[in-house]
Amino acid sequence: MIDLSAAPTLDRLLPMLCETAMDIHLDVYLVGGVIRDLLLRRSTVDFDFAVEGDAIEFTRELAARHGGTLTMHPTFRTATWSYQELEIDFATARTETYPEPAMLPVVTPASIDLDLYRRDFTINALALRLNEPRQLIDLYGGQEDLRSGIIRVLHDHSFIDDPTRLFRAVRFEQRLNFHIEPHTFSLIAPALPYVSRLSGERLRYEFELIFSEDEPEKSLHRLHDLGLLTYLDSGLIFDETLYNAFRSYRLLAADQQYAQNSWHIKTNSAINIGWALLGSRTRDPEQMARRLMLDRTATLAVHGGQRIAKLLDKVASAQKPSEVDALLNDLPTEVLVAGSVLASGDTRAKVTAYATTWRYVTPLLSGKDFTNWGLSPGPLFGKLLRGLRTARLDGQISSLEQEREFVQRVIAQMAADDATGEDA
Ligand code: CTP
Repeated sequence: MIDLSAAPTLDRLLPMLCETAMDIHLDVYLVGGVIRDLLLRRSTVDFDFAVEGDAIEFTRELAARHGGTLTMHPTFRTATWSYQELEIDFATARTETYPEPAMLPVVTPASIDLDLYRRDFTINALALRLNEPRQLIDLYGGQEDLRSGIIRVLHDHSFIDDPTRLFRAVRFEQRLNFHIEPHTFSLIAPALPYVSRLSGERLRYEFELIFSEDEPEKSLHRLHDLGLLTYLDSGLIFDETLYNAFRSYRLLAADQQYAQNSWHIKTNSAINIGWALLGSRTRDPEQMARRLMLDRTATLAVHGGQRIAKLLDKVASAQKPSEVDALLNDLPTEVLVAGSVLASGDTRAKVTAYATTWRYVTPLLSGKDFTNWGLSPGPLFGKLLRGLRTARLDGQISSLEQEREFVQRVIAQMAADDATGEDA
């Protein structure tokens, strides 16, 4: 039976749900990936419940008994119950029919058996009935497939109905170190043409999920082998450098202190770094952004990835920090991360130094100091500040005193130049 000790939240929650379900004569089930993860003893954070009957009626009763707030979606007969620190989704058990391949399905309330049959893979078509006697429902051999490490669809039309499942199959396969069983594998090639019918939003979401995996490079590599990456861009090159770049990024991000404090990488940066890395290898960033309906930041990441990949040779031959600064100065953090992990050796060291240190270099003196010295604000201030920064970057000056001397020298030089100009 299922061991809930790995999920203390569930241990606390299930008796409440069970009691309510029994009292109002509804059957409630914990369903989907959470059962898979509990059986595999993997940590799990998302809990999905299915209610035979009406999820909204059930959650109303829960909220009436235990408090918390409800967000209801009457069209889909689903509800989210916000209770203490939790947000829990309840869906009415349903069957789905696809009016056309790759379109969103039409849903109709149904029994749990049909609800499980509409799902993607046997390992995700497991349910735990909460009503007493508690019972694991495994109609399609999910437990056996979990034991054998197999990804198996429930019916032959599954990938065509919902081509996002091609990406999901690869993601679960790589995440769990499973393999796609031969018959399921044979259904992939006939479903490939349907990927182009997916909306940009749905396709994009699959990649965002992949970028958020622990080892995205493994899924991307497999997608590449299966010909699925061409749906982003027919010329996308998934080479060893890109594979290693995803890996290097993962290692960098694993040191959270370094990633946050030195790189200023935010916790949700993985997705835009993923876009920047794919952008570095796309033939047409514009087309990729349009196909996937990327938002502004992700679009900038794709374009930035493309740009920094082309700049790496110049970075390699740059002699001074200020030259690197001039090449990289308008690129966002995510793109700099991508550039660094795409590069190697000395070039990586330069991009890293720029991203973590050089770009934050500023002179100690400011325009206020120049005004205090009697200079009038104008283009000269910009020139002095830029000059100070360049000199600091390249290690020519490092103290306040040296900055003052630098400014005096520049002003003296300008005065001399003016005098020469007047004389002439
Ligand atoms: N599902 C499906 N087909 C899809 C998406 C989802 O059948 N295209 C079903 C699966 O049963 C899945 C459940 O809906 O387990 C919940 O979906 P999701 O939260 O995306 O999947 P999880 O299995 O929870 O995966 P993850 O561990 O990545 O969150």
